[in-house]
Amino acid sequence: MENNSLILVTGSNGQLGSEIKAISHLYPTLSFVFTDIEELNIIDPEAVETFLKKINPNFVINCAAYTAVDKSETEMEAATLLNSVAPGIIANACKANGCRMVHISTDYVFDGNAYQPYNELSPVNPTSHYGKSKLKGEENVIESGVGMIIRTSWLYSSFGHNFVKTIIRNAKIKPELRVVFDQIGCPTYARDLADVILKIISRNNESFIPSVFHYSNEGVCSWYDFAFEIVNLTKLDCKITPIETKDYPLPAKRPHYSVFNKEKIRNHYNIEISHWSKSLSNCISLIIKDGLLNL
Ligand SMILES: NC(=O)c1ccc[n+]([C@@H]2O[C@H](COP(=O)([O-])OP(=O)(O)OC[C@H]3O[C@@H](n4cnc5c(N)ncnc54)[C@H](OP(=O)(O)O)[C@@H]3O)[C@@H](O)[C@H]2O)c1
Repeated sequence: MENNSLILVTGSNGQLGSEIKAISHLYPTLSFVFTDIEELNIIDPEAVETFLKKINPNFVINCAAYTAVDKSETEMEAATLLNSVAPGIIANACKANGCRMVHISTDYVFDGNAYQPYNELSPVNPTSHYGKSKLKGEENVIESGVGMIIRTSWLYSSFGHNFVKTIIRNAKIKPELRVVFDQIGCPTYARDLADVILKIISRNNESFIPSVFHYSNEGVCSWYDFAFEIVNLTKLDCKITPIETKDYPLPAKRPHYSVFNKEKIRNHYNIEISHWSKSLSNCISLIIKDGLLNL
């Protein structure tokens, strides 16, 4: 049974929001209102309350976040406001309006010291301010009782800024790129995540549970393997050289191991998850088709 729902998407000019926009026509039973900071600043409680009251949505998908991981170490307050406080503002407004929320979080809530895939009950221990701010945001949403959290990792898209586009841009002008091979995780094509979210909310309301879920594409790789495959698929003439994290210091500490166990979302929502290499190939085909290789 499918439902007719009105969906409010916040932060919709980012990677995930743009992908939701791009595939929204595939979900004719859903209607959408897309907003970014100009239309709805999610750190403003009054604006959020008024907006929700006015349009009365069935679901809010919060795609807005402070995603600059390294900048979060110095711009702590801005990251806290957007990643911790704002999700709570939306969740409370949802609760007051009888509406549900889908909120996106991150693998950075874990310290990355594990050697087995993280499930939703694995102990959290963020090591960066970004990770800490996202964890607090999760807690605020869960406390409201109306929101589901989807933790994802290594998000990329043909829209916005991301690793795939950075590698393409650099591989076009440099003969060699040095990329870390001791951080293992799983890339996630934002289009696949967008599709999963819309599948979940287009189904009957009973299956929606306000709980934490893990979602990425299938398989595992290092950033080096990911970069290698990007250059391979785009046929760019650039050597990818593996290096260790210690040779590429960054302000925010990264998890060494960021692999998700995805059984919960796969079983509860009965979804198929594609392998990262297949999804990357789909994204690169779009990038080539749209002429984005000339970035
Ligand atoms: N990117 C990753 O690798 C990754 C990995 C794991 C999880 N995630 C999570 O996945 C979700 C989606 O990430 P993404 O990469 O799609 O993010 P993104 O591309 O950075 O998009 C975020 C959007 O939110 C907007 N925004 C900023 N402040 C706002 C405000 N006060 N009110 C409303 N909108 C505001 C941004 O506008 P401006 O661009 O103008 O600031 C941007 O359009 C986030 O929750 C993120 O934490 C991301």
